[in-house]
Amino acid sequence: MKTSISMGVLVVSLLSSLLMDGASSRKDHCHADDRAALLSIDAALGNYFSARWTSDDRACCSWASVHCDPFSGRVTDLYFAQLPNFTGTIPDAIAGLTHLTVLEFDHLPGVSGAIPPAIAKLSNLSELIISWTSVSGPVPSFLGKLTQLTLLDLSFNSLSGEIPASIAALPYLNSIDISRNRLTGALPPLLFSRLSHSSSQQPAYLRLSHNNLSGSIPAEFAGVEFAQVDLSRNAFAGDASPLFGVAKQLQYLDLSRNAFSFNLSGVELPEQINGALLSHNAIYGGIPAQFGDVAHLYALNVSYNRLCGEVPSSLMPGQSSSSDVFCFQHNKCLCGAPLPPCNSLI
Ligand SMILES: *[C@@H]1O[C@H](CO)[C@@H](O)[C@H](O)[C@H]1NC(C)=O
Ligand SMILES: *[C@@H]1O[C@H](CO)[C@@H](O)[C@H](O)[C@H]1NC(C)=O
Ligand SMILES: *[C@@H]1O[C@H](CO)[C@@H](O)[C@H](O)[C@H]1NC(C)=O
Ligand SMILES: *[C@@H]1O[C@H](CO)[C@@H](O)[C@H](O)[C@H]1NC(C)=O
Ligand SMILES: *[C@@H]1O[C@H](CO)[C@@H](O)[C@H](O)[C@H]1NC(C)=O
Repeated sequence: MKTSISMGVLVVSLLSSLLMDGASSRKDHCHADDRAALLSIDAALGNYFSARWTSDDRACCSWASVHCDPFSGRVTDLYFAQLPNFTGTIPDAIAGLTHLTVLEFDHLPGVSGAIPPAIAKLSNLSELIISWTSVSGPVPSFLGKLTQLTLLDLSFNSLSGEIPASIAALPYLNSIDISRNRLTGALPPLLFSRLSHSSSQQPAYLRLSHNNLSGSIPAEFAGVEFAQVDLSRNAFAGDASPLFGVAKQLQYLDLSRNAFSFNLSGVELPEQINGALLSHNAIYGGIPAQFGDVAHLYALNVSYNRLCGEVPSSLMPGQSSSSDVFCFQHNKCLCGAPLPPCNSLI
């Protein structure tokens, strides 16, 4: 996701510099309100940029970490990433950049404090990325005011508390990554529910691994078109079967290291899925023969569950990880290649 965003920014910058070649003074000329907001942001960050953000010209669109719309001259993207010795909190002055669509704080371990309410004023924000920082406190409920949001990446921080139900109402939000935090509580049942009603039919991406989330998969998730789901290393329990189904768009599913408990015999994998990681749960029943019909299932791991019966022989030929005994070990009474033959148990 991040690579495609950076590529997008790069392509836009290249295009705009080509289009504006020979008119660079006009291109760099930014709106006075945006320039004032940037200088306030820099002041709040201890004048980190003062050497590079020259305060005596009006060319703030060419400043480091800033991107403008080439036609309006309004600041649309602000991205702080991998800056050595960058410390402080996310400044309230960000609210002054009213045309912002992309805001990114990435790989900045010196950035701490809570996500400020000022962010809720950025009503045009489409992508909010605060990742690999020391930001703490809750995932704020006011993020539900960002009605244009499509991507929310709050991974690798120290956020705690529950996932606010308010973000479930966002109509375009199709990618949520809050992995590697200290979240607790259950999944909001209506997460992504507005997406299925929108005309765009964007598939959903949900990454919540390495938290302390609990509860079960909401029944409503059966109606969401997921492309990727990673709920690994949490405390989820109960039935995960609403995520399965032969007609789903799901490409990757990781439910490892939870307490899911359901009968696997009754589920089907979608045709295009390439990873189904289910190890370290309490899943029972058997491995459906249908799993062997999935052409690109490169990674299937059902180890450390309570499965029984024969591993479908159709799973074996030419499948990279599925022939690995470590993907099937530690079940109740699973047998057949790559495990010992079934009759050897008798
Ligand atoms: C970061 O801080 C350290 C210690 O204060 C200093 O030695 C180093 O030069 C600083 N790096 C930059 C790029 O400012
Ligand atoms: C959002 O963007 C549109 C188009 O760029 C602009 O007209 C509008 O004023 C922006 N919203 C705010 C709150 O500035
Ligand atoms: C997760 O939450 C449970 C209580 O629900 C608690 O006992 C446990 O210590 C928590 N684990 C972590 C790693 O925070
Ligand atoms: C799992 O479901 C199958 C039918 O789909 C049933 O035959 C089997 O008894 C169930 N296993 C358990 C352990 O409930
Ligand atoms: C499958 O999961 C088990 C348990 O976590 C692990 O030991 C094993 O390495 C995994 N196999 C593969 C191929 O990833």
